[in-house]
Amino acid sequence: MATEKTFYLETFGCQMNAHDSEKVIGTLRRQGYRQVEAEEDAGLILYNTCSIRDKAEQKVFNRLNDYKKLYKLGKRFAVLGCVAQQEGEKIFDRAPYVSLVSGSASYRKLPEMLSRLEAGESRITGLDDRQTDETFETEFTARQNPYRAYITIIEGCDKFCSYCVVPYTRGKERSRTSSSVLTEAWRIADLGYTEIQLLGQNVNSYRDPEGKRSFAELLAAVGEVPGVRRVRFTTSHPRDFTRDIVEAIDSVPTLCDHVHLPVQSGSARILASMAREYTPEWYLERIAWIKSAKRPISISTDIIVGFPGETADDFIKTMDLLAEVEYDCVFAFRYSARPNTPALVMIDSIPDAEKAQWLQVLLERQREIQRINYSKHIGDIVEVMVEGANPARGQISGRSSQNKPVNFEWSGPIAPAPGSYLRVKIIGAFPNSLVGQAV
Ligand code: 5AD
Ligand code: SF4
Repeated sequence: MATEKTFYLETFGCQMNAHDSEKVIGTLRRQGYRQVEAEEDAGLILYNTCSIRDKAEQKVFNRLNDYKKLYKLGKRFAVLGCVAQQEGEKIFDRAPYVSLVSGSASYRKLPEMLSRLEAGESRITGLDDRQTDETFETEFTARQNPYRAYITIIEGCDKFCSYCVVPYTRGKERSRTSSSVLTEAWRIADLGYTEIQLLGQNVNSYRDPEGKRSFAELLAAVGEVPGVRRVRFTTSHPRDFTRDIVEAIDSVPTLCDHVHLPVQSGSARILASMAREYTPEWYLERIAWIKSAKRPISISTDIIVGFPGETADDFIKTMDLLAEVEYDCVFAFRYSARPNTPALVMIDSIPDAEKAQWLQVLLERQREIQRINYSKHIGDIVEVMVEGANPARGQISGRSSQNKPVNFEWSGPIAPAPGSYLRVKIIGAFPNSLVGQAV
């Protein structure tokens, strides 16, 4: 009797990775595998890994260590994603019970790699050096959310910021044609998805291989697909942020009122050392475009604290920029040295305790900024897409077009279903969420 093929997949890292996992799940199902919820029940255990900061990859190795005994029970392990691409065959040395190691640019070869695994082979690799293969979605992509669909429009990154592993783990930039993105958007809308998120490590450095549409034109065209109610895009690089993106948001109502524009630092000297290719002034000009839009657009960012050579003076410049932009959300990270990156050899003399202190100061300041920003919404009526409901407690949660979490109470007989849209009056605010009342 043939035993059933089962798999367990765990995903670390960014939305690109989450979406890659949807493609991997689709591929495994097509190969006759059934997904299970517990590692114990799976014949094949896969980790789709992230290596953006060091704790991310350490987590994966710890996990692999915890489970090495399962190999003796006949279970097989695969390491996918960024740690796989970065560490390559070294993973077999560090964790000899791993059978398959593959980076994201090789997922198209997964069916073949799986067949070899099933035939009993070990040390199977998908580590394309050129990393130019495309794994844009297919109809097999197993979307995990019934109302929000991700579409990859560009893979890889050619920016080579001095701290960042992405160009090494995800390879060169390659865009999908705008016609095929739109075909996918129509198909998805037909299936009932109402929110589309266009993804790319540098989503706005998108270049249509057919030369038909700019990024802003593609954005607008996706927003005009019948049935689509919300379009988001992430992550934008300031270098490629053009004014027509703001114009598109202004003229197409389904494009969400939110731009994520990572700044990384407020110091020109540190930005140069990071190879970001812009100055604070240049960045602030883009922010001014966004702020001059006809409808208020929420702005969020990423910041790295404690980059090699950063001084207290540089840090103050980042704090000043924070106060000037008044972001609605900031993801701040302590710098972490990454393999292969140019910053790895830069002298990093700031003590960890000092970096931690800066991060703390920054997050506290940002909390105050958000407390003020969020309280300005009191009295507004916003459209909320419902994400979760706790019917027993009459609690509903969702997000506004600005991507702000909104919680409200519900007393009607049938709680609104996840994925539905409601108008909500904002009656209270916290630094990270709004409180409302359905109207
Ligand atoms: N150290 C700390 N933070 C990093 N990021 C990327 N690389 C590093 C690193 N080596 C942060 C950046 C990026 C976000 C996704 O992760 O802020 O925008
Ligand atoms: Fe992590 Fe970057 Fe890879 Fe995403 S692309 S999984 S953030 S290393």
